[in-house]
Amino acid sequence: GSADFDLYRPSEEHDMLRDAIRSLAEAKIAPFAAAVDEEARFPQEALDALVANDLHAVHVPESYGGAGADALATVIVIEEVARVCASSSLIPAVNKLGSLPVILSGSEELKKKYMTPLAGGEGMFSYCLSEPDAGSDAAGMKTKAVRDGDFWVLNGVKRWITNAGVSEYYTVMAVTDPEKRSKGISAFVVEKGDEGVSFGAPEKKLGIKGSPTREVYLDNVRIPADRMIGEEGTGFATAMQTLDHTRITIAAQALGIAQGALDYAKGYVKERKQFGKPIADFQGIQFMLADMAMKIEAARQLTYAAAAKSERGDKDLTFQGAAAKCFASDVAMEVTTDAVQLLGGYGYTRDYPVERMMRDAKITQIYEGTNQVQRIVMARNLP
Ligand code: CAA
Repeated sequence: GSADFDLYRPSEEHDMLRDAIRSLAEAKIAPFAAAVDEEARFPQEALDALVANDLHAVHVPESYGGAGADALATVIVIEEVARVCASSSLIPAVNKLGSLPVILSGSEELKKKYMTPLAGGEGMFSYCLSEPDAGSDAAGMKTKAVRDGDFWVLNGVKRWITNAGVSEYYTVMAVTDPEKRSKGISAFVVEKGDEGVSFGAPEKKLGIKGSPTREVYLDNVRIPADRMIGEEGTGFATAMQTLDHTRITIAAQALGIAQGALDYAKGYVKERKQFGKPIADFQGIQFMLADMAMKIEAARQLTYAAAAKSERGDKDLTFQGAAAKCFASDVAMEVTTDAVQLLGGYGYTRDYPVERMMRDAKITQIYEGTNQVQRIVMARNLP
């Protein structure tokens, strides 16, 4: 059912995890957030701090040396990192996105081979689904994999690949049978060091500037047949199943960005004086803050409920994951825009963090499926 309230109530461990990750994020990640954005550079400090505390890929099961965090704990980690730096929150989020196809559908050997270094912080994972001419229509991809004895040979271009170039491992969806559209797509693990793998120039983006987005070129990349994830022809289903779980991590990112903006604005309005008193004393300001907090709380409940469904593997996860991502990202856009409004002219400058949060929020309405695609997904899976 949709009302399993007890099951997503955060436990004491979840609360302790939140406290720990919040202190870490404030001490080790927040101080660099503005510079990472300004210089559009990878937040290495964040990666180091997350790895040192085993928080860079918390979802990896303990059997592969991971922290074995459940879906809600993973959401909490991403939320708290995003609260101070959205770019850095893509480290735990995209590590889950890139590796979940292997965890869900990969052979035991593949899991051992790739989840162990991911858990150990030796290499990150990226997810390669989109292409220049296949965005929302993911099944329209052109990247091909052709069998050659004990090998597959991959050719094509993947676009909008988060953390491309920084990641060591790439889950790549490619066409193995062009006649069958989505049923003729297979998934593979490609390594950065494989011959024929190269990267495009980093995209110049509106937000999440610290997280590199690049094209991935596959030029006659010859990989052993055992790098296929699951059976031939199941790659699209695996990719979609993965997104059912990971759209919740984008909801978590959106939630964190929104909370960060509210927290900043809440402090600001108490300090800022106009007409002889703090602007927090004006009801117009109070109503804005109340609406922001209300929307965030609604997004949080939807996201945590979705995380609980993800953890249980509920059948109606597809609807809930899409709903959480769509709702929380719209909330993030509204709340960050209001935070800029509350700071007025100051909010519009880079001397304050809220304009960055507003720019960072925008991508959450676009990636892992635009909010229009989320509505297609929800409409096809109505509860
Ligand atoms: N779980 C399991 N299997 C699924 C599934 C799911 N949720 N959804 C689809 N499938 C499988 C099924 O086998 C299905 O066949 P049946 O209907 O016969 O069962 C098959 O896939 C085809 O599904 P559809 O007919 O629904 O496929 P479609 O071509 O109509 O596409 C779509 C549907 C929802 C629009 C899909 O293309 C989509 O989600 N598009 C958006 C893609 C996306 O989210 N891209 C983001 C990339 S990640 C990212 O942003 C990068 C980053 O680095 C952050």
